[in-house]
Amino acid sequence: MAKPKRGELPREREKGRIISWIEILLVSAVITVAVNFLFKAIYTPFAFVYSVSLLYFLRKFLKDESPEDFEKKFSIILFTFVTTFLLFYLHKEIIVRISEPRDLSFIYFAFPYAFGSLVLAFLFESIVPINLTIIVSLGILAITGNPILSLFSFITGLSAVYGIIHYSKMKRGSIYRTAFIVVFPLSLVFLVLLNMFSYTSRTFLLDVGASLLNVLELAVLASFMIPIIEYVFKVVSPLRLIELANTNLDIFRRMAIEAPGTFHHSLMVATLAERAADVIGANSLLAKVGALYHDIGKLKMPQYFTENQVNMPNPHEGKSPSLSSLIIINHVKEGVEMGKNLGLPQEIIDFISQHHGTTYVRYFYLKAKEMNMDVDDSAFRYPGPKPQSKETAIVMICDGAEAAVKSLEEPDEESIRETVEKIIEYLIKEGQFDDAPITLREIRLVKEEIIKILSAIYHKRIEYPEEEKKINGFKQAEENKNKQTSS
Ligand SMILES: [Fe+2]
Ligand SMILES: [Fe+2]
Repeated sequence: MAKPKRGELPREREKGRIISWIEILLVSAVITVAVNFLFKAIYTPFAFVYSVSLLYFLRKFLKDESPEDFEKKFSIILFTFVTTFLLFYLHKEIIVRISEPRDLSFIYFAFPYAFGSLVLAFLFESIVPINLTIIVSLGILAITGNPILSLFSFITGLSAVYGIIHYSKMKRGSIYRTAFIVVFPLSLVFLVLLNMFSYTSRTFLLDVGASLLNVLELAVLASFMIPIIEYVFKVVSPLRLIELANTNLDIFRRMAIEAPGTFHHSLMVATLAERAADVIGANSLLAKVGALYHDIGKLKMPQYFTENQVNMPNPHEGKSPSLSSLIIINHVKEGVEMGKNLGLPQEIIDFISQHHGTTYVRYFYLKAKEMNMDVDDSAFRYPGPKPQSKETAIVMICDGAEAAVKSLEEPDEESIRETVEKIIEYLIKEGQFDDAPITLREIRLVKEEIIKILSAIYHKRIEYPEEEKKINGFKQAEENKNKQTSS
């Protein structure tokens, strides 16, 4: 798709790259060689057909992803898939060596087939783990030739996806809850039904043992693997985002004391961004956390930012507009540095570097022009980059809208609407959304949501004196009435 011109919005999401047939054949060849090496040679032709089908599915499934998301999703899905089968092989090899030959069925049912489904349910929308569940079950059918085992793999995989959705992917405990409250009873019932006609106390104990070993391995392996995937493939899971959103973290405690205005502003922007992202189906948790961190760079020189200047002289006085502008612009660079030192994921650092895009520090730019200075435009522009995602674009809008509305003397719905519209018009005119996959319709929805929330917040503040007058008037009337009745 051609790049949009400055000030123009991309109407369509940019398509990602497509997996070529050469790549499909190469990866399939590698998988086939691995299967040939690990399992019996009779599976080799099947492995090849199976790998080609898997990659063809990925080619179809990932075709609409941005190139960056494509790389990540493709690598993670393939990695999880390969890990599941490697674990299956290791599991089989280890337990076969330490157990009696007659307990082989027990060994196969003790393997956590739901491992890949659970891991992917934690990281992606449920369509991905559901598809992996089907693919893994077919693979198990091919390797073992046992349809019951394949069905077992399918059922436990789906139950793991359900468990993660039910117990929320935002809590660490949901892995263990899914394993022990959802997968365990389900696999036990499955095994009990399976052995219904040849039941002895020994088979029952073996069923309980297999189910327990299954979910124990499932929980331990998944809790171990998720942070590794996050680290290796640089993805942020909802769980990590929840941890980062904790306002009791040192960085926010410091902000609340050293830059209380910025802290309050960040909380407001986070609320706005979360709701606005929800409205257009973007990642609301990512937008919220990104907004919380977007201005951490102001902690280096908090007094230079208006929101923190309460009962103190303005430190910009006596400084040249270009020096003031440099100090203001620096909060982006400082923020990125601080973000790296805090170990923030790149997705969050992107909010720090992109929230001002390449806009002007308008106040000091206009001041310099007013002073008839020889204005060097670049000294008043943020270095960018412009927002690259829907979420960073939303935070850019919310950031500008919150700051501008807060500075209104008598905000009412009309003036709030006018201010927010002006901010968005300015950002569009400056071409700030050129690189973000956000449409005009989505920007309009974001705008309406922001206006709604800001009006609700400031409405109370304006109405309060009126309400007070009413209450006072009512009290006065009551007093007069009492006086009249007593006299
Ligand atoms: Fe900022
Ligand atoms: Fe800000």
